[in-house]
Amino acid sequence: MPELELDIHLDADEWAPQLRTDVLNGLTSSPKTLPPKWFYDDRGSDLFDQITRLPEYYPTNAERQILRKRAAEIAELSGADTLIELGSGTSEKTRVLLDAFTSSGQLQRFVPFDVSEQTLIDAAKVIGEDYPEMSIHGVVGDFERHLEMLPTGGRRVIVFLGGTIGNFAPTQRQEFLEQVVSTLNPGDSFVLGTDLVKDHGRLVAAYDDSQGVTAEFNKNVLAVVNRHLGANFDVDSFEHVAIFDAENAWIEMRLRSLVDQTVHIADLDLDVSFTAGEEMRTEISAKFTRDRVAAELSDVGLDLVEWWTDAAGDYALSLSTRR
Ligand code: SAH
Ligand code: TRP
Repeated sequence: MPELELDIHLDADEWAPQLRTDVLNGLTSSPKTLPPKWFYDDRGSDLFDQITRLPEYYPTNAERQILRKRAAEIAELSGADTLIELGSGTSEKTRVLLDAFTSSGQLQRFVPFDVSEQTLIDAAKVIGEDYPEMSIHGVVGDFERHLEMLPTGGRRVIVFLGGTIGNFAPTQRQEFLEQVVSTLNPGDSFVLGTDLVKDHGRLVAAYDDSQGVTAEFNKNVLAVVNRHLGANFDVDSFEHVAIFDAENAWIEMRLRSLVDQTVHIADLDLDVSFTAGEEMRTEISAKFTRDRVAAELSDVGLDLVEWWTDAAGDYALSLSTRR
């Protein structure tokens, strides 16, 4: 049997207090917000998986296209024996990289890292069966807090796919990148997927699909708060909103209350009132340009080595190395 190790830095004991703090802060600020990392319970992870297959959601296919073309180069340029994937989810596209890294015979260890424990375990199991030549060291944690707990050693490449970097606010994004760099040794690599600024109509459609899957995904965060904090959000009395904020170059996802209503959150001993039409922010998804990515990487000590886009120029994958 291949070796399968699992570190859990965010178990049920830590989940609840963190969720409580985030929800209390978010719902008592103005305008109200709800924090995005709580989207990904089992149902949320499943809904995200469906999003990746929607015709309007181009990032997944664009990224897969780039990976197929560049995987061998990424293996060679990085020279890595340890592949760390942050926000790994199902690691489906990552298989393209695992194929390239194993066929060159260099890969010894795969380290998927995600907040969603069950999704990570399921992915690690099937990947372990399909790639018996490498060991798997899964990490369940929050990539904003637990990066220093990553297993050490090896020539490393950290990959962060899916445009998830866009889900940070600018300040958090810089802090996150600083953390990433501090887990790399000079010469180690960072492979980053970023969605690019483009026609606003296509951007909005990717976050407001015609089948309503993204709407379900967004509203699922209310169900998470109901379940874990004893709240009584009536999920159907909120609607999904996605707008492109051109000034900030990000998609903003919101939930709009359809009626005047008061929600009770038992575990916080809190009543929260919404007026009809009031919007609460749940997520941003920033869109980038090459210059912006190069500058933000450079600011934290990463040199951009390669910049690859899909044929349509919708999405980019970059490879940078630590100075
Ligand atoms: N890499 C996959 C999944 C992207 S979705 C792809 O490209 O399709 C974002 C992933 O990041 C989800 O699996 C989610 O569970 C995880 N995630 C979100 N916030 C996180 C956090 N704070 N810490 C660790 N993982 C997180
Ligand atoms: N990383 C994904 C993105 O920004 C996450 C995502 C896709 C998402 N669709 C969403 C997050 C809808 C919240 C709501 O593209």
